[in-house]
Amino acid sequence: MAIDYTELLNDAKEASKKSYSPYSNFPVGACVIYESGNKYQGCNVENASYGLTLCAERNAISNAIIKGETSKIEAIAIYSPRQKRCLPCGACRQWLSEFAKSEEETKIILEDVNNKILVLSLEEIFPHGFKFDE
Ligand code: THU
Repeated sequence: MAIDYTELLNDAKEASKKSYSPYSNFPVGACVIYESGNKYQGCNVENASYGLTLCAERNAISNAIIKGETSKIEAIAIYSPRQKRCLPCGACRQWLSEFAKSEEETKIILEDVNNKILVLSLEEIFPHGFKFDE
C-alpha cells in the first residue's frame, strides 16, 4: 500500500494538540495506519500519579481496537513539538510489535532534525522482541 507519510505525520501533529501533559509539558501525538487503510490518532495522557501516564502510541492503538480494527499495522507517525525524532518508548515498541504486519514491513515515521521525514522499520528499533511461539 502506498502511504502518504507527510499526511500521516500531519495527523500525528494534529493529535499532539490534544495532548494532556501538564506535568511534563511534553505533548506527543501519534497516528497509526493499518493494512485496511484506516487511520487512528492518539495523544499522551498524563496523571498526577505519574507512572499511570499513557503514551500517544498506545492511545492510538487502543483507539483502533475499540473501533474494531482487526488488520495489521503498516506504519505509525509520532510527533512532539518539543523534540524532533520522537522515538517510541520501550513499552510502545512492544505494543507495536503485537499488532505489526511484520517487524521488517512496519514503519516508524518521524520528523527529523532537518524537518525531513525519517522512516525506520520496527525491526531497526525493536529487534528480538518478546512473542509467544506461533
Ligand atoms: N511519551 C509518549 O507519549 N510517547 C513516547 O514514546 C515517549 C514518551 C510521553 C509520555 C509523557 O507524557 C511524556 O511523553 C514525557 O515522557
